[in-house]
Amino acid sequence: MSTRKIPLAGVIGNPIAHSRSPRLHRHWLRKYGLLGEYIPLHVIEDDLERVVRTLPKMGFVGANVTIPHKSSLMNIADQISDRATLIGAANTLIFKDDGKIYADNTDGYGFMANIKQGAPDWNPRAGSAAVLGAGGAARAIIVALADAGVPEIYLANRTRPKAEALRREFGARINVVDWVQAGNMLEEVSLVVNTTSLGMTGQPELRIPLDGLRRGTIVNDIVYTPLRTPLLQTAEAMGCITVDGLGMLIHQGVPGFERWFGMRPVVDDATRAALL
Ligand code: ATR
Repeated sequence: MSTRKIPLAGVIGNPIAHSRSPRLHRHWLRKYGLLGEYIPLHVIEDDLERVVRTLPKMGFVGANVTIPHKSSLMNIADQISDRATLIGAANTLIFKDDGKIYADNTDGYGFMANIKQGAPDWNPRAGSAAVLGAGGAARAIIVALADAGVPEIYLANRTRPKAEALRREFGARINVVDWVQAGNMLEEVSLVVNTTSLGMTGQPELRIPLDGLRRGTIVNDIVYTPLRTPLLQTAEAMGCITVDGLGMLIHQGVPGFERWFGMRPVVDDATRAALL
């Protein structure tokens, strides 16, 4: 009889049934022939701490965390990475052998790796970036852009005070632009990122004027349902380099998978196909 333990991981959220993370991690487990399971975990806020403390006792080696628990985790984890602290949210947990819970945030990494894969010639230091939206995803992306050396970040959000708050927090390289003038900032930049939910199936369209976009500008949407959002379709027709949002979801899963299951997975067309 084998006494080997099966390493378990999963994604904690509410709701969780729609999450594509189980498909992603199961694809990699199968591809590399690794022992392990990855499970969607529907957990309500009141139970979060108890569940997170119990998982390691059941064979879990870690977990992803998604809406609405990403910031609550910061009060539960025993150790928090610098980047999770800076972003104020965690999306990846590692349960250590000594029982400690380590929380990290790989969203910014996933964002950056996706852009580098989709636009390999992009030089972050060579041009400024425009960010639409100032929610949780925008925080991770702004930290990643600043970290990569992007000289200037133009930030527009429907609720302007939220953009102002990000500027106060993350510094002078951020220029806040009024939402109704967001189209104007597109002329200045070499990278445009939509971090809002606009353009997602069932959500309103992103209605900012796009005629300022220049040929060769990189345009990224973090929305991936649909894969080709109206923003990406228009940008493509205007000669921009478009990068869809599925890659960010995939790449943000890489560091967790590697820590839990001991193999750094490759992101390729087969990985994308497994999610579509
Ligand atoms: P996430 O964690 O995915 O970033 P979030 O924190 O709820 O989610 O942020 C959602 C973002 O989409 C915000 O920037 C939000 O703008 P507000 O701060 O003004 O709410 C933006 N957003 C959502 N619906 C929008 C709409 N109809 N028009 C403009 N922006 C919208």
